[in-house]
Amino acid sequence: MVNVLGIETSCDETAAGVVDDHGRLLSNVVATQVDIHARYGGIVPEVASRQHVVEIRPVIEEAVAKSVGGWESIDAVAVTHGPGLAGSLIVGVNAAKGIAASLGRPLVGVNHLEGHIYAAWIDHGSDGFTDPADDPGFPLMCLIVSGGHTELVLMSGHGRFKLIGETRDDAAGEAFDKAARVLGLRYPGGPEIQRVAAEAGPSEPFPRAWIRDTYDFSFSGLKTAVIRRARQAGIYPPPPDGADRSTVATLARSFQDSVVDVLVSKAVDAADRHGCKGIVLAGGVAANSALRAGLLDASPVPVAIPPMQLCTDNGAMIAMSGVQRLREGLASAWDLDVVPGMRIGA
Ligand code: KG4
Ligand code: ZN
Repeated sequence: MVNVLGIETSCDETAAGVVDDHGRLLSNVVATQVDIHARYGGIVPEVASRQHVVEIRPVIEEAVAKSVGGWESIDAVAVTHGPGLAGSLIVGVNAAKGIAASLGRPLVGVNHLEGHIYAAWIDHGSDGFTDPADDPGFPLMCLIVSGGHTELVLMSGHGRFKLIGETRDDAAGEAFDKAARVLGLRYPGGPEIQRVAAEAGPSEPFPRAWIRDTYDFSFSGLKTAVIRRARQAGIYPPPPDGADRSTVATLARSFQDSVVDVLVSKAVDAADRHGCKGIVLAGGVAANSALRAGLLDASPVPVAIPPMQLCTDNGAMIAMSGVQRLREGLASAWDLDVVPGMRIGA
């Protein structure tokens, strides 16, 4: 048995997790900085990297302590080295190098986006592909939707990715965050929009940015639509006595329906076009219940959606991707560097 420690510091979560080479989840510890950045309405890179420095050691120690076997049983160290914020990535990469060197174990650099996809192979007792009976085989269509990314990626085998479509402006999660801000909701906006949308009646007709004949996405126009409608309804800029709750709920729901509709339609269409045997939904926005339900409903092929805690940034998904890289003999050299603009399958 091989146990891999995964370390993730690309954005605003300091995270570490351990999985074994069967994909069994042994520990998963996340220290989120959400409350710190909420004050500013978004992530402040300098604040994020300093907070990683504070959190990294206790988070890793807790993840290792919780995994059966402790330090003795760590056989490799995987770490996100891109894409992400340079100052944040550096904290995780240097911690990983120090640990791997002192344990005399291999170091494995992981692409954060591949990590999100590999969350689908972690054995957490439901939904994923770990059980061979659930695994539809390749090719798979992967929809990665997070605060910084919106990508459709064709996965033709383990470690084999081809970019099919991506956002031309805002990422899906970024769109949720911006729309929430217009509606006077807290950061991060995704969970807030979902929460208030659940109180809404039927949604209003809202634009959909289909951009025909491509699998690319565009969400910035939708933000403009939210601003326009919020202005018309007299809730933007936010009135001093607070915005009308039901108006906020209706706009939140209309916005969410529009995003979900485009994401689901394009993912299902791309999967069909490429003869895919399944779809993987990955990234922080995959925590959205309307998106999960919409994709499960629309897809003719099996859909793997990791549980919530493995959708948002975490160390276990990096460890799982590390397991796969090690299987392919892809350990990294000691001069592993951060690559903030790293892409997937491009
Ligand atoms: O993957 P992630 O944790 O970090 C990045 O790599 O970006 O994704 C964070 C993003 C945020 O934009 C957040 O608003 C969004 O995921 N998000 C959601 C939900 N939960 C988190 N968006 C929609 N609905 C949710 N329930
Ligand atoms: Zn992420």
